[in-house]
Amino acid sequence: MKKVLFICLGNICRSPMAEAVMRDLIKKRGLTSQIKVDSAGTSDYHIDEPPHRGTKAKLQQYGITTSGMRARQLRSSDLHDFDYLVCMDESNVRNTIEMLRAEGDAKVFRFLDLTSHQKDVPDPWYTGDFQETYDLCVEGCEALLEKVLEG
Ligand code: 4NP
Repeated sequence: MKKVLFICLGNICRSPMAEAVMRDLIKKRGLTSQIKVDSAGTSDYHIDEPPHRGTKAKLQQYGITTSGMRARQLRSSDLHDFDYLVCMDESNVRNTIEMLRAEGDAKVFRFLDLTSHQKDVPDPWYTGDFQETYDLCVEGCEALLEKVLEG
C-alpha cells in the first residue's frame, strides 16, 4: 500500500481538489486497494470544514464527490504515515519541511514539479478560478500516479 498526502494552506481549496481527483483516478484504474490518499493544511484556519463551495461545485461538475471530506491540519506523524507529501506551492513545501523537520527528505515535493509546468498551483481562494486549479490537478495527478506506480 502506497500512501499519498496532498498539502496546501487551508485544506479547503487545492489539496482537497487534488485528493478527490486522485482518488477518482485510482478508482477508475482499479487501484483502490493499492494507493491511499488524504490531504491536510499547514494552517489551522479551516479545521473540520468541508471543501470550499467552489471546489465542491467544480468536482461535482466532473462527477466527483467530496462527501465526508473535512479539513485537518498537518501533524508530525504524517511524515511517517505517508510515502509522498505533495505540496501545492513552494510556501507549502517550506512550511511542511519546517513543521515536520523534514529537511532534505525527498518525500516532500511540489506537485507540479512532476509536470512540464514546474510551478505553484494557483490558489482559487484568491484567483476564483477553480477550473484552472481542477485542470492542473488532473494533469498533476496523472503524473503522480505514474511516479507512485514506478515506486
Ligand atoms: P487552500 O486555499 O490553501 O488551497 O485551501 C486557501 C484557503 C483559505 C485561506 C487561504 C488559502 N485563508 O486564508 O483562509
